[in-house]
Amino acid sequence: MRLRDKVCIVTGGASGIGRATCLLFAREGASLLVADKSLAGAHAVAEEAGPAALAIETDVADSRSVRAMIAGAVEHFGRLDVLVNNAGYGIAGSVVETDEAAWDRLMAVNLTGVFYGCKHAIPVMQRQGGGVIVNTASTTAIVGIPDRAAYCASKGGVAALTKAMALDHAADGIRVNCIAPGTVDSPYFQAMRAKSGDPEALDRSLAQRQAMGRLGAPEEIAKGMLFLACDDSSFATGSMLTVDGGMTAQ
Ligand SMILES: NC(=O)c1ccc[n+]([C@@H]2O[C@H](COP(=O)([O-])OP(=O)(O)OC[C@H]3O[C@@H](n4cnc5c(N)ncnc54)[C@H](O)[C@@H]3O)[C@@H](O)[C@H]2O)c1
Repeated sequence: MRLRDKVCIVTGGASGIGRATCLLFAREGASLLVADKSLAGAHAVAEEAGPAALAIETDVADSRSVRAMIAGAVEHFGRLDVLVNNAGYGIAGSVVETDEAAWDRLMAVNLTGVFYGCKHAIPVMQRQGGGVIVNTASTTAIVGIPDRAAYCASKGGVAALTKAMALDHAADGIRVNCIAPGTVDSPYFQAMRAKSGDPEALDRSLAQRQAMGRLGAPEEIAKGMLFLACDDSSFATGSMLTVDGGMTAQ
């Protein structure tokens, strides 16, 4: 019960890594707000997580919606201990191929969404005397991958913002870390697979990119989220935890 009496929000909680994180946090005793732009998906996960979980419709790219999410946690549970900024997605393309509007939309969710979450959560945590923030970056914050220029840039931004916030708020008792998953077999990956002309070749090439020769499972990333969210990581701030099957070790 490593999150007993802790109030946690997980954005992008309706699917994949976020869903696995919600279910693990609930098993570890957390009171939970499952936040997602898909309210139906968030409800389904909250129901699965148990009576201490609630669903909220949130668009992380909209500052007012994120402010309401933070206020919702405080209203329902009386405080906010852990914010996991996890909502995000990828688009294909080199810089030349990437449409300007698609770039802006992706940055609004993957990077500005993290900014909004922290901007609205940190004052609450400051008043409480501390808190924990975990941001979902990616191995693409460390190494480039082809055909994903905007995604790599957004996750590099998340990693840099994590370090900046860790320094600004260490004295407030707020720890800010990020996780860098390798390629994970989530619904997002399955959607990408379905669109590819040759799914088996895609599986092989992405698995081979990781030294362990396989994709990760959302539950394996959730365990890293738990480590960063709970007191087991009490001396970690501004750090990036890679959980990537050895992708960035080579
Ligand atoms: N799957 C991977 O291989 C992988 C690898 C590294 C990092 N990541 C990152 O992990 C995070 C989760 O990815 P996943 O693979 O579980 O994806 P997923 O598509 O399974 O889940 C993402 C969730 O985020 C929600 N979401 C998207 N835009 C949103 C918005 N504007 N506001 C609120 N919710 C929104 C979606 O509705 C969905 O429920 C993302 O930030 C992604 O970039 C994924």
